Amino acid sequence: MKIAVIGAGYVGLVTAACFSEFGYEVICIDNNKYKIKQLKKKIIPIYEPGLSDLVKKNAKSKYLLFSNSISKIKDANIIFIAVGTPSTRRGDGEADLKFVFSVVKDISKFLIKRKKQLVITKSTVPVGTGKKIQDMMCELRPDLINNKDYFIASNPEFLREGSAIEDFMRPDRVVCGVTDKQAEEILKELYRPLNLREAPVLFADLESAEIIKYASNAFLALKVSFINEIANLCEKTGGNVQMIAKGMGLDNRIGPKFLHPGPGFGGSCFPKDTRALYASFKKNKINNTLVKSVINFNEDRKISIVNKIKNLLKPKIKNKVIAFLGVTFKPNTDDLRESPSLEIIPRLRKLGAKIHAHDPAFNPEFIKVKELDKIKWHSNVLEAIKNADLLVIHTEWNEYRGLDLLKVKKALKNPIILDLRNIFNLDDMKRYNIKYHGIGFKS
Ligand code: NAD
Ligand code: UGA
Repeated sequence: MKIAVIGAGYVGLVTAACFSEFGYEVICIDNNKYKIKQLKKKIIPIYEPGLSDLVKKNAKSKYLLFSNSISKIKDANIIFIAVGTPSTRRGDGEADLKFVFSVVKDISKFLIKRKKQLVITKSTVPVGTGKKIQDMMCELRPDLINNKDYFIASNPEFLREGSAIEDFMRPDRVVCGVTDKQAEEILKELYRPLNLREAPVLFADLESAEIIKYASNAFLALKVSFINEIANLCEKTGGNVQMIAKGMGLDNRIGPKFLHPGPGFGGSCFPKDTRALYASFKKNKINNTLVKSVINFNEDRKISIVNKIKNLLKPKIKNKVIAFLGVTFKPNTDDLRESPSLEIIPRLRKLGAKIHAHDPAFNPEFIKVKELDKIKWHSNVLEAIKNADLLVIHTEWNEYRGLDLLKVKKALKNPIILDLRNIFNLDDMKRYNIKYHGIGFKS
């Protein structure tokens, strides 16, 4: 089976690498010349555990090739579209489909009559996009017959950054939206290597597959916001949110996952996908309050974190040094897209605070991010903490969990920690005489 994956980003590159690992011949195509040049030299543009080894191994054995040329799809039986679908710049929250549609246009030029190629959307796209792609294809290639010369399918991706390979190889489920039995057979064959792992492969219509992706992300985002709201209550009334999450999570109907409180959800998907789902409700003139409240709550969350910090540095925050540990939206990634830190840090700087930061995934690109302007970066955690008036833990990197608290206390000017991920506990901190504040309990 020959596969072409268009887009060499977090999803495209992982998809291409994992399918090549299954023994398929894969070509990963991107229009970013620099990225492909680097990939051909086996240099991976992103920080994703395990990805580099997988790419190197399969590129060496020639199962995985890279190219800038979309014409290479001619050789493929299966073509994945895995380009970005960010929010539009209009501010209406809708997903911007210009990259997807531009790829569809490009692909259409090279599809081959009677080859029965399967074009699969892996990008997260709003309901109705698969149908639009079908219509576009009919217009662009009237000589080809849909469901005869080629097929359209939807196969949304559920991997998480930081554990992308494991998620791809051992998914909770694979969702496929199809309009034809033959397309279903091709997809069954494609995912056959997952049979051993008993991963359920669910077949649905195009629209259901598209909505399953958004509904899943929005539901998880809602869980995160819900526990953050409960955390707010605990901070006023007493009670410990972690104990509460444990107590709730023991109910199988609720489950323990995605009940960790924090500075609000970030990343390249939850924020944009909740906005896009809300936009779909609006577009279809359906009143929606639930998804909208999740979006609003999450926006406010970051402001409330700034207020928390301001409060801890009373009477004035101006010229105070804040050691900020972790800027990425979660550990094991260098992805900064919509990280809460990008809202929190500029607000703190505007109030006059000085930020000394550390992140294990730091790379020189971070310096170019305007929200992280004028930060003093440190490659050593203790250096970042030195003489700080407050230590904020923003991302729960493993490197921070084992910090030597005695050294931390000695390094800080004021021994105060605000732990936005609750990686430490109050009793340990008491022993070290460190004033410890977390999320969802009274200090
Ligand atoms: P990304 O921005 O990391 O990568 C997109 C890639 O597509 C870039 O390398 C870009 O150069 C390339 N590209 C854009 N236009 C192109 C074109 N016309 N021809 C060839 N290449 C082109 O994006 P991502 O994070 O991998 O996300 C891709 C899609 O997958 C999005 O819809 C996203 O919502 C979804 N998704 C992402 C994740 C994740 O963890 N990042 C998880 C599940 C689903
Ligand atoms: C998320 C989903 O988990 C994936 O299934 C999905 O494929 C992906 O979005 C996508 O569509 O792109 P990801 O964004 O990589 O994956 O990261 P998550 O682990 O889901 O975390 C998202 C955000 O929620 C992070 O900011 C994280 O810190 C926050 N979060 C998560 C919490 O604050 N508490 C939790 O309990 C869980």
